[in-house]
Amino acid sequence: MKRSHVTHPISQKILLWIHAFFLILSGCGSGPSDPSNATVHKGFQKVDFPNEARELITPIPQFQSYNDSKAKLGKKLFRDPRLSKDNTISCSHCHRLDKGGVDGLQFSIGVGGKVGHINAPTVFNAGNNFVQFWDGRARNLKEQAKFPITNPKEMASSFKEIIAKLSKDSAYQKAFKALYKEGITEDTIVNALTEFQKALVTPNSRFDQYLRGNKEILTEEEVKGFQLFKSKGCIACHNGVNVGGNMYQKIGVMQKYSDPSHNLGRYNVTKREEDKYYFKVPSLRNIDLTAPYFHNGLVATLNDAVQLMAYYQLGKILKQEESHKIVLFLKTLTGKTPAILRKNP
Ligand code: HEC
Ligand code: HEC
Repeated sequence: MKRSHVTHPISQKILLWIHAFFLILSGCGSGPSDPSNATVHKGFQKVDFPNEARELITPIPQFQSYNDSKAKLGKKLFRDPRLSKDNTISCSHCHRLDKGGVDGLQFSIGVGGKVGHINAPTVFNAGNNFVQFWDGRARNLKEQAKFPITNPKEMASSFKEIIAKLSKDSAYQKAFKALYKEGITEDTIVNALTEFQKALVTPNSRFDQYLRGNKEILTEEEVKGFQLFKSKGCIACHNGVNVGGNMYQKIGVMQKYSDPSHNLGRYNVTKREEDKYYFKVPSLRNIDLTAPYFHNGLVATLNDAVQLMAYYQLGKILKQEESHKIVLFLKTLTGKTPAILRKNP
C-alpha cells in the first residue's frame, strides 16, 4: 500500500465521508418537509441547535478584519497596469472585480498577448482557501502575489522594476509613507495587495442567510438541490466556509479523466507519483459568475460541470432534473459585492 499523503491523509478523507453520511442519514439540516425533523426523543429535552452548527458548510462571517487604509492602497495597486513589464496588465485584467473576480476566459492572456495554460480562479474569498493556486504552490495570499508579477506569461515584471516605477509617482510615495515607515518595498506592496484581497469577501449569499435560519429565503427546488448536493456526495469534497478550498482531491476518482491540458496538478509541486491529477478542490462560492469551469476551463455551463463531477468523482449519472436542482442550489451561493468595491460602502 502507498504511504499516506501529508497533504490529504486518508483518515481525513474517511472522516469526511463518515461525517457527510452521518449528516445525511440523520437528516440534519434537511428541509421543513422532511419527516425526520419531526422525531421526538422521549425523555430528552429537544435542543434546537442553531442551524449553522448542523451543516458542513458554514456562512462567511459578516465582518472581516483587515486594515482599511492599506486595503484601499492595495485596491489601487491591484488595478494598476504599472505592475506589469509593459504597463498593460493589472491584476484586475485577469481578476475582473466587476465580473466575479475572473476573466471569463478558458486561459488568461498576459503581457504581449501570451496565453496561459490554466484557468484563472476568482480572487473573491481566496483568502479563505487553505492554500493558493490549483496546485497549492503558494501557502497564502502573501506568498501568492509574487507569482503573477514575475510570471513571463502574466505580468513579466520584477519588484525592482515596479518599485522604480511606483517611486516616481508622488501620490504613491505619499500613500506608502503614511502607512509604512519603510515606504515602497516588495514587502509593503505585497502587504497592501494582501490586505485588499482580505477585503474581497462576499458574505450574505441567500444560502448563508438560509444557514443562519432564514428558511423562507430559498425556494423548495433550491432546498432540494442542497439536499441532492449532500445525498449524492458532493459535500464530501465541497464543504467548509468556501464550499471547497480546504483539501486536494483527484480529478477522476471513479472514472478515469483524460485532461486535454495534460496538467499533473499537485504533482508539479511535490513530484510524488501519488499526487498526480490532484487539485485543490475549488470553492463553489459565486460559482454562477465564474464560468468557464475546471482547471482547464473546458466546461462552459454549470449544468455540464455538475454532470461531469457526478460522473467522474462519484460514478453517478444524474437525471437532468437532479443536476438542474443542484445548479439552482449553487446559484444561491452568490454573495454580496465586497464592501470595499461598493460605491458608497
Ligand atoms: C495574466 C492573468 C493574470 C494576472 C495578471 C494575475 N493573475 Fe492571479 N491568477 C491567474 C491564473 C491563471 C491563476 C491560476 C494559476 C494556477 O493556479 O496555477 C491565478 C491565481 C491567483 C490566485 C489564487 C486563487 C486561488 O484560489 O487559488 C490569487 C489570489 C491571484 N491570482 C491574485 C492575483 C494578484 C494579486 C495579481 C496581481 C499582482 C494577479 N493575480 C495577477 C491569472 C492572473
Ligand atoms: C472527490 C472530490 C469531489 C467530489 C465528490 C465532487 N467534487 Fe467538484 N471538484 C473537485 C475537484 C478536485 C475539482 C477541480 C477539478 C479540476 O479542475 O480538474 C472540482 C470542481 C468542481 C466544479 C468547478 C469549479 C470551478 O471553479 O471550476 C464544480 C461546479 C463542482 N466541482 C461541483 C461539484 C458537484 C455539484 C459535485 C457533486 C455532484 C461535486 N463537485 C463533487 C472535487 C470533487
